[in-house]
Amino acid sequence: MSVENITIRRAKKADLSVINNIEKQLFTDPWDESAFLDALFFYQNTFFVAEENGKILGFVIAGIEDTGEAIYGHIMNIATVPECRNQGLGGRLMQRIEFECLVLGTEGVQLEVRVSNKEAQRFYQKMGYSQVFVIGGYYSDGEDAILMMKWFDN
Ligand SMILES: CC(C)(COP(=O)(O)OP(=O)(O)OC[C@H]1O[C@@H](n2cnc3c(N)ncnc32)[C@H](O)[C@@H]1OP(=O)(O)O)[C@@H](O)C(=O)NCCC(=O)NCCS
Repeated sequence: MSVENITIRRAKKADLSVINNIEKQLFTDPWDESAFLDALFFYQNTFFVAEENGKILGFVIAGIEDTGEAIYGHIMNIATVPECRNQGLGGRLMQRIEFECLVLGTEGVQLEVRVSNKEAQRFYQKMGYSQVFVIGGYYSDGEDAILMMKWFDN
């Protein structure tokens, strides 16, 4: 994989079985295919895949949240295939989703990450995210989540 040859484009229905396979390999509590189908319907502007020569190597999904006081992007899922890690692919997906969130008028981007997922935490920190607080028992197996946030004006 060469990150220069990567295309980031919006996901489509035909991508979902590949995305679902990646998801099942990586997560202990994977989304099922119907969740990805819902994401395609509700978040069609903020659901991207990274591909090289037609092969999907990663994806990212965000929603837009409006609390009345702030509008921010919420990254709900991001993954790259293990054989392509540490080459900038995840960074490209983050840049693309952040740009889209900015264009959609948000003030920043939020995400949750497992307390045990040190690799992803380090990755998000490098991307400019800071820990805001811990959400106890956030995941279905009872693990806590760290809520991280990046404000665009920082
Ligand atoms: C988190 C995740 C998406 C990161 O994807 P990635 O493709 O490895 O991301 P990048 O390559 O852009 O960055 C990863 C690291 O490689 C480094 N890197 C980027 N380009 C590089 C290059 N050309 N050479 C060497 N290192 C590089 C980055 O600085 C970063 O360093 P870090 O480990 O100290 O943070 C990926 O690890 C993943 O899918 N994990 C499993 C699913 C998961 O946990 N998702 C998050 C749930 S909250």
